[in-house]
Amino acid sequence: MTLDALKRQAAARALEYVEDGMRLGLGTGSTAKHFVELLGERVRGGLKVVGVPTSEVTRADAERCGIPLTTLDDLDRLDLTVDGADEIDADLNLIKGGGGALLREKIVAAGSERMIVIADETKWVAGLGRFPLPIEVIPFGLAATRRAITEVFAKAGVSGELVIRKRSDGHAFVTDGGHWIFDAHLGQIPDASYLAGLLNPIPGVVEHGLFIGLAGVAMLAGAQGIRIVERR
Ligand code: A5P
Repeated sequence: MTLDALKRQAAARALEYVEDGMRLGLGTGSTAKHFVELLGERVRGGLKVVGVPTSEVTRADAERCGIPLTTLDDLDRLDLTVDGADEIDADLNLIKGGGGALLREKIVAAGSERMIVIADETKWVAGLGRFPLPIEVIPFGLAATRRAITEVFAKAGVSGELVIRKRSDGHAFVTDGGHWIFDAHLGQIPDASYLAGLLNPIPGVVEHGLFIGLAGVAMLAGAQGIRIVERR
């Protein structure tokens, strides 16, 4: 079975948690896209839900699938967010942001009663860090922000190259919020929660891709079927 087929299976399983009337956070990426498509089929069949997209790409996908959309400003809380991840560890801490949507993804996940993370089993890791950690930054004062991040890395016992994410035409990748992204090639992050806490207060860092304590359940699709892991 292809990885894409596994992603669709994980998305289909998460759909079983969706109930009529729910307010849903809609994730970004190739796995979340399957969820949006499958949700769209249910909506066209009569399911009543409203969604908040985590990126402009997901907004376009959801609109095309006929899913009614709103904003976080019009709702108190969301019932459920379903999103993919780049890495998932045993505590259901995540690295996200490979698709560049980490800021809105984190705002939406934090505004939800529950977050389900959907993935093929290759995303399950013993420790976070092999996937480059995305750090969304303000372009102004970039060198100072880079220095501050490097200092924090030393304090957290990690090191590695910080690379500004580029588009295929060589220009800097710009997020939906108008920011840039450093991809931090750390290899391993011994204490992701500690590192997240050190990155948060750096002026110039808008957000980072460590999602600590946000995901409640992971649905991991593999050749043997779907494994469901609840946060301990
Ligand atoms: C988007 O910014 C990311 O956080 C994605 O959720 C993550 O990169 C997983 O993407 P895939 O489902 O495409 O692997």
